[in-house]
Amino acid sequence: MREGRLGFVICVLLLICESTLGRFVVEKNSLRVTSPQNLKDTYECAIGNFGVPQYGGTLAGAVLYPKANQRACRSFSDDVSFKFKSGAGLPVFLLVDRGDCYFTLKAWNAQRAGAAAILVADDRPEPLITMDTPEEESARFNYLQNISIPSALISQSLGEAIKRALEKPEMVKVNLDWREALPHPDDRVEYEFWTNSNDECGPKCDSQKNFLKDFKGVAQILEKKGYTQFTPHYITWYCPEAFILSKQCKSQCINHGRYCAPDPEEDFARGYDGKDVVIQNLRQACFFKVANESGKPWLWWDYVTDFAIRCPMKEEKYNKECAEEVIKSLGADLNKINECVGDTKADKENPVLKAEQEAQIGKGPRGDVTILPTLIINNRQFRGKLDKGTVLKAICSGFEETTEPVICLREGIETNECMENNGGCWMDKTLNITACRDTFRGRVCQCPIVQGVKFFGDGYKHCEASGALPCDLNNGGCWKDTQQGRTYSACIDDHKEGCKCPPGFRGDGVKNCEDIDECEEKAACQCPNCKCKNTWGSYDCKCGGNMLYIREHDTCISKDAISGVGWGFMWVIILGMAVAGVAGYAFYKYRIRTYMDSEIRAIMAQYMPLDNQAEVAVHASHGNV
Ligand SMILES: *[C@@H]1O[C@H](CO)[C@@H](O)[C@H](O)[C@H]1NC(C)=O
Ligand SMILES: *[C@@H]1O[C@H](CO)[C@@H](O)[C@H](O)[C@H]1NC(C)=O
Ligand SMILES: *[C@@H]1O[C@H](CO)[C@@H](O)[C@H](O)[C@H]1NC(C)=O
Repeated sequence: MREGRLGFVICVLLLICESTLGRFVVEKNSLRVTSPQNLKDTYECAIGNFGVPQYGGTLAGAVLYPKANQRACRSFSDDVSFKFKSGAGLPVFLLVDRGDCYFTLKAWNAQRAGAAAILVADDRPEPLITMDTPEEESARFNYLQNISIPSALISQSLGEAIKRALEKPEMVKVNLDWREALPHPDDRVEYEFWTNSNDECGPKCDSQKNFLKDFKGVAQILEKKGYTQFTPHYITWYCPEAFILSKQCKSQCINHGRYCAPDPEEDFARGYDGKDVVIQNLRQACFFKVANESGKPWLWWDYVTDFAIRCPMKEEKYNKECAEEVIKSLGADLNKINECVGDTKADKENPVLKAEQEAQIGKGPRGDVTILPTLIINNRQFRGKLDKGTVLKAICSGFEETTEPVICLREGIETNECMENNGGCWMDKTLNITACRDTFRGRVCQCPIVQGVKFFGDGYKHCEASGALPCDLNNGGCWKDTQQGRTYSACIDDHKEGCKCPPGFRGDGVKNCEDIDECEEKAACQCPNCKCKNTWGSYDCKCGGNMLYIREHDTCISKDAISGVGWGFMWVIILGMAVAGVAGYAFYKYRIRTYMDSEIRAIMAQYMPLDNQAEVAVHASHGNV
């Protein structure tokens, strides 16, 4: 029985491989050797499917090849610590040989001994492969989720060359570079998650479930704001023609052998069958389709996480009824979803699953999807541990420079390269504006837009404002000074012509405005008997005798004229001044005295006959009464 099943599974796999001319693509990044001189070059290496690759970043270090335990299959003894062994305080890249045990165990042992990264040298000349996690479930692998160092497989020849250099001995310095590990063409990242509703497949299913739960919040924010376009995918096999009526295909497939999934417990006699998994996968795919059509694709994350919690296989709730409860509680259109699932017993194609099978075949640089779960970002397969931080880092590295959402620029996710030396970009210290823009992969020097004013220039040495700066930005670049508690500014809001010294000052308005000495220049306070005293930005003027200085009009009037004549006359004076104001300041200044007299005369004449004598009398009475 067991052999029969195994044979069947292999047969299915072979058929799929043959029929699709499948191709497994190894995701590579580059390993740069920076010393010794004769090894200086950039080499390809394959990112391991565990640990934490630094998507979007780089890691520099020195290589160390252990004297014993060179395959790192045993843990390194306590007295061996690689943390500070490299000299020069560089992080240690531990070089180990392939073979004898799982890649993951090597990485775990290296990490516990203080290595910052692990390089596994291939033991045969061959194209690079992807180092994966063990398939089986075992308590021995409980360290898997704890691997946090990045790992890379290097070719046998590079491994040998590094070992030779180390023997000499020479220091081998390397730089792992993930900045170009993913394409980053535009301001939206497209990503896919090839997943499975099966929740009983050991550590892989657990890590998938945890990832979905942890990443849901971030995924939904990114999707709602249009930063990403996410699509879930489901792998199915199909049953070879000759086996369609076999017991195996009947329990693993739906739609007459068209869409199959392996039995969750690999035991046909108990628990759920492969076909139950296919149906739930189909329901999830349909949920996404319907949610996407209603403009809310992010609801899928709610559905799959709720389904995993509410309908686990363990509690025998992995069924249609439970799924429908979840769908209803999310307010999705159950009829549409059921319609999409269709009749799974019918001998006909299901358009959704058919499309999934077609998508499985690799196109372009992506390669076939054969590892479950697999995350594909910008059409490249993601490698590394499926956890929130690592995946977010990878997604963030998929945005074109400067278009990444703020969530990518949070502390801990990346470093701010503008902090140090302003990233080497242009900066105006007095305006406190800079051309340095921190991005996920590093920084760019780009002349900024400050409060709506665009700056132009190369961004490195030179940026220039395209128009006048607003006054609240370093006073628009204009002169400003405070003396004796008084502040004057040469910035006028909405100033199109630039800076202009305020009244009482003269100068270019940018670097300086000088106080005008009104007294010295006889610009004001020139009335007879007046005492003029210059102040900063203005002047003081005192009239002689019993006269009061009216600053607005640079003139003196009698104090008693105000108190004696009373409000009626005040109005007359004010009216007179207003009329004079319209006539022009200079003219007014020249004419003020006679004008007042004649006005008053004219008004008084309406009430009493006046002659020249009488006018004098009026004046006299003003003065004496
Ligand atoms: C892995 O990490 C968790 C939490 O940090 C810890 O409880 C667990 O013991 C670790 N497992 C191993 C094998 O070190
Ligand atoms: C989801 O909807 C968007 C926009 O309506 C569309 O471009 C995209 O192709 C849809 N995805 C799927 C898998 O149907
Ligand atoms: C310059 O501006 C930044 C924020 O734009 C602020 O954090 C910093 O304190 C400012 N520096 C000075 C000297 O005003």
